[in-house]
Amino acid sequence: MAHEDAGPSAAVVRKEDEVVTPVRTRDLKEKKRRGEKIAMLTAYDANMARLLDRAGVDALLVGDSIGMVMLGYKNTVPVTLEAMIHHTAAVARGTERALVVADMPFLTYQVTVADAVRNAGRLLQEGGAAAVKLEGGRAVIDVVKRLVDVGVPVMGHLGLLPQSVHQAGGFVRQATNPRDADALLVDALALEEAGVFSIVLEAIPSDVARTVTAELTTPTIGIGAGPDCDGQVLVSHDMLGLFDGYVPSFVKQYARLNETVVAAAQAYVEDVKAGRYARPAATVADVPTA
Ligand code: KIV
Repeated sequence: MAHEDAGPSAAVVRKEDEVVTPVRTRDLKEKKRRGEKIAMLTAYDANMARLLDRAGVDALLVGDSIGMVMLGYKNTVPVTLEAMIHHTAAVARGTERALVVADMPFLTYQVTVADAVRNAGRLLQEGGAAAVKLEGGRAVIDVVKRLVDVGVPVMGHLGLLPQSVHQAGGFVRQATNPRDADALLVDALALEEAGVFSIVLEAIPSDVARTVTAELTTPTIGIGAGPDCDGQVLVSHDMLGLFDGYVPSFVKQYARLNETVVAAAQAYVEDVKAGRYARPAATVADVPTA
């Protein structure tokens, strides 16, 4: 709902005659070739997608992190395909320019290749995503190959794999010894060979991310992986200070919206209790009809 006193500032409005060229998967590879960094954030609803899209974010990830930052789960494991389709469709409705990538939730791609194709297809057909992301390297390579073969663009995800949190024993940094770092590079090369258009590298040492990035022509997108990846991704609720739970140490918080929300709600509560609210609607035209 718009605040009566504050119209949208020029900074957040796209000009009416502005030509918007949608970002495609191939553009990310092109950016890597040109040495241009890629900025990606998560989004879970149409309104936030609209704002982040206007800000110039190249890709919006409908992450299964929604389970933690919006749905109140302790990890991403309980997130369902239906939830991801629902939220991906909302993000797609709010996005004009950014590439919309949808996470494939736990067990929607690990059981059979046929299941994976069907489920990825639903994220594209019903959710309106332009691509899917899935976690793992050689363990899921047959799935990646089949998806790419049937025309589904795939973003890989290596390092900390949140869907394997129970196996890993928590959200712990990965590839911290030479053997694991080598294995991660082999996984990354296998994903590139299988045809992914980019790879998220999560919570790994900077030097490992730098090596992987240098070895691949496929763009790497880091989160807690240092500055040398081809792009960066953050959970938007973390970087906006909107999530009220644990925020990883590598996250730079560009705002503290949780404080703004609490202060605004407190002011509203005070207004209501003091009988200063509500203002009547000025005209019927205040209420949009379509
Ligand atoms: O679900 C998510 O938000 C992610 C990012 C952490 C990359 O996978």
